[in-house]
Amino acid sequence: MHVWLLLFNFLLIGWSTTFAKTVVETLTSDDRFRVFVRQLNRTDLLQDLEHYPTATVFAPTDEAFNQKIQADMTRAELLYHILPQTVLTTEWHDGELFKTGYTQDGRSQKIKVTKNKDQWSLGNNVNIVDADLKADNGVVQVVNGLLTPPKNLVQTLTEHKELYTFSNLAKKAHIETELKRANGYTIFATQDVLDGLTDAEKDYLNHSEAKEELAQVLRHQISDSELYFGKIPRGKTQLKTLQGEKLELVLDKNNQVTVNGAKIVQSDILASNGVIHILEKSILPNNRDFLKMNLRKVLIGLNATKFVTLFEEYGLEDFLHTKDEYSIVAPPNDELNERNIPRSEIQSWLKYHIISKKYDLNNFTDGQLVKTESDDHLGGNGKQRLLIHIVDQDQTPINARKKSIQFDHANLIGNPVAVENSIIYPVSRSLELPRDPLSRLPLNLDLSTFTASLYSSGVADEIKNSQGITLFAPTNEAFARLGLLTKHLLQPNSQEKLARVIKFHAIKHGLYYLNETMQGEHRVPTLDGSEININKTEGGHMYVRGSGAGDGSDRSVIAKVIRPDMLVSNGVIHKIDRIQIPSTLEISNRDLLLAENTNSFINLILKTNLTEQILDSLDQPYTVLAPTDRAFAKLNVTHLLQNPDQLLRVAKLHVLPVALPKMSMQPGQDGDRLEKKSKGDGDNDNRGIHSDITTDGVEFSPLLDDEKIIITKVDGGYTIKTKSNSKHLADVVQIGRASNAGGVIQIDRVLLPYDQTEGKGSLPWWAVLLIVLGVLAGAALLGALGYYGWRWWKERQQGYINLDENH
Ligand SMILES: *[C@@H]1O[C@H](CO)[C@@H](O)[C@H](O)[C@H]1NC(C)=O
Ligand SMILES: *[C@@H]1O[C@H](CO)[C@@H](O)[C@H](O)[C@H]1NC(C)=O
Ligand SMILES: *[C@@H]1O[C@H](CO)[C@@H](O)[C@H](O)[C@H]1NC(C)=O
Ligand SMILES: *[C@@H]1O[C@H](CO)[C@@H](O)[C@H](O)[C@H]1NC(C)=O
Ligand SMILES: *[C@@H]1O[C@H](CO)[C@@H](O)[C@H](O)[C@H]1NC(C)=O
Ligand SMILES: *[C@@H]1O[C@H](CO)[C@@H](O)[C@H](O)[C@H]1NC(C)=O
Ligand SMILES: *[C@@H]1O[C@H](CO)[C@@H](O)[C@H](O)[C@H]1NC(C)=O
Ligand SMILES: *[C@@H]1O[C@H](CO)[C@@H](O)[C@H](O)[C@H]1NC(C)=O
Repeated sequence: MHVWLLLFNFLLIGWSTTFAKTVVETLTSDDRFRVFVRQLNRTDLLQDLEHYPTATVFAPTDEAFNQKIQADMTRAELLYHILPQTVLTTEWHDGELFKTGYTQDGRSQKIKVTKNKDQWSLGNNVNIVDADLKADNGVVQVVNGLLTPPKNLVQTLTEHKELYTFSNLAKKAHIETELKRANGYTIFATQDVLDGLTDAEKDYLNHSEAKEELAQVLRHQISDSELYFGKIPRGKTQLKTLQGEKLELVLDKNNQVTVNGAKIVQSDILASNGVIHILEKSILPNNRDFLKMNLRKVLIGLNATKFVTLFEEYGLEDFLHTKDEYSIVAPPNDELNERNIPRSEIQSWLKYHIISKKYDLNNFTDGQLVKTESDDHLGGNGKQRLLIHIVDQDQTPINARKKSIQFDHANLIGNPVAVENSIIYPVSRSLELPRDPLSRLPLNLDLSTFTASLYSSGVADEIKNSQGITLFAPTNEAFARLGLLTKHLLQPNSQEKLARVIKFHAIKHGLYYLNETMQGEHRVPTLDGSEININKTEGGHMYVRGSGAGDGSDRSVIAKVIRPDMLVSNGVIHKIDRIQIPSTLEISNRDLLLAENTNSFINLILKTNLTEQILDSLDQPYTVLAPTDRAFAKLNVTHLLQNPDQLLRVAKLHVLPVALPKMSMQPGQDGDRLEKKSKGDGDNDNRGIHSDITTDGVEFSPLLDDEKIIITKVDGGYTIKTKSNSKHLADVVQIGRASNAGGVIQIDRVLLPYDQTEGKGSLPWWAVLLIVLGVLAGAALLGALGYYGWRWWKERQQGYINLDENH
């Protein structure tokens, strides 16, 4: 009996001692909480706790403190470990929030409990290690770490890696201050906040200019009322956002909440001044007019901000807000250097980046010239062109092709972006305006003669200052082809003639780009005043014909455009392979002879009365065979000059009273090559030299009646000889055509009439006759002598016999 009483007493005392303890006593009597108790005592909380009618204390063990370097906690932090109510873990449910004793800005801060298997957790790896130590005024929950009170929304966003993007964008959108000051906001964040926007929109929102729009997008994901997961009513709820639109929240039977259709995947991330829920996908405002893209915004998104700034700075901002159709070539900031551009040119340079129509990638072809909005120096409504280059045309898929397209020298570096009625092409570098012709021409080494001629003839400035011209630039080979004529034109005293020839190659006020020129013939005025004929053929080639081929038959004189469309600031230059001479330009044989190395011959002619007729006649054509001075050096001219008859004969031998035969001094080169190559391109481009001279030789009658001149085509040129002396060959050195169709053939040997031939040539006809007659006479004499001799001998023999018989 005693034993039972005693046992009962013990139990009663045991029970009463257990339940007679307060929370404070529970803490102080337990060795595990010495540091925590000290902290509470230090901050007077221990005392305060005595007066709590009821409380739950999350008590970190001494080990929990050891993990912290600095152990001194603030009263606020300690208060966060105390709930002003008693809650046993057995009554908790997963995700439940409790108000703590800690208040900030008038808001009591909450703590969230979560259950993982059988383990209760308070976040941050802080777990309940000993649950529900009951006291008479509350309960102590032993935890293995210190609890940290929630931080403000901005800090909370920063610390969660799932919220990194939202946090970054909030910074960009400058809504951080608002978020810091908030008093009870709810944020519906996502990992990919801008998901659902176009690339162009995303790129734009990534720029500081877009902070207003970005703020609007973010504010659509924020409400100024605080809504914890557990407080969301069943069914549908509407929640107004900071941006103005409403969000629709739906809590379904499975306790799944969706916000505008996006599931909440993580709820109740606590902040000191709000709460954050993470959605599986982003929610964007339905009405995104504020984000409506225009050219300006797309350009900014493409990092072409400097380009945009320049447009605005130079009064061209209308292009950024236009509804017209353009294709805009947009260089990135680091490749845009306006400092290289003269200030006066900046506007037209900027406008050069705007192609006047909307071109899709498909619309471009290699070598195409597209019109831009740049209009300086071209006169009238002339718009500067931009050259399109497609590097590898075989790649048919568009995205492969995109890499191979060039705007002048700028590569396409990204997807074209269509916006409003236009399209924007991001390119690797800014474009360069075509240079003026005087800067452009020297880049072509094979146009050096033409370039030099521009200056020496004094028309350089006129060409440069003409607005909207088409210039046909003959190659050096074309100049060489004219032989003595070129030499004459390049002489200092031929400056005026050269100027006329150059101007004859410049079309006044007319932009004849190859592809834009209509097929067929066009007669157009030149700077020289006379007209020139442009012929664009079916095959797409262009020919230029001056008066040298007035009848259109002399195809060796018609120029072919061999490199079209070299753009210059005031027009376009085409490279051509023949020079055209204005019909009214007077070139005499004397001009040609004076051009080079034929002074001895001129002197010879001047000694005769042929002078005017041959040297200066502009009506009847004469072809003069002019031996070089070196050729004369081999001859005894003194002897010739002492003998006027002989002199005249020599002179006349060198003059053919006909037009200059067609001869090409570069056979095997362009002439013949063109002849073969051009077959079948539909152009009938049969412009090889139809040389009048054949390899069999062609005979001409010189002014000297009793002689013939034979010109023969040989390998690499022509030879000339007289008919009477076929051994003495002269080689043709060069040729020059006079404006009356006559001309000069320069040769390397003086031709001599028969009777002047030195050495052992055949005898003249009368000498042969004399010899033949002499021989015949001699033979006749001998025959006669023989006959009479024989008669005499015979008679004598008979007489002798007769005499003997008579005795
Ligand atoms: C609280 O601190 C006071 C002095 O600061 C000390 O006297 C008292 O013993 C402490 N109480 C506990 C329970 O440690
Ligand atoms: C956004 O801009 C920053 C620089 O401001 C840049 O580093 C980042 O790559 C950009 N992001 C995109 C997607 O363009
Ligand atoms: C803009 O530049 C940033 C780096 O400054 C780059 O990351 C981004 O991709 C660029 N955007 C576009 C559209 O090129
Ligand atoms: C581009 O091509 C499309 C269809 O092929 C055509 O309708 C459009 O007119 C073309 N645009 C230009 C500027 O040539
Ligand atoms: C010229 O136009 C034709 C069709 O008209 C086109 O096939 C060709 O590519 C164009 N050439 C250039 C150089 O633009
Ligand atoms: C040149 O003089 C000769 C006589 O010396 C004469 O027969 C001939 O007709 C003259 N020719 C011309 C073109 O005057
Ligand atoms: C050239 O001819 C003249 C006159 O016939 C003669 O006196 C002279 O010696 C000749 N000169 C030579 C180098 O043969
Ligand atoms: C223009 O070219 C066509 C085609 O080659 C040709 O038939 C025509 O004769 C040329 N016209 C002239 C004046 O050269």
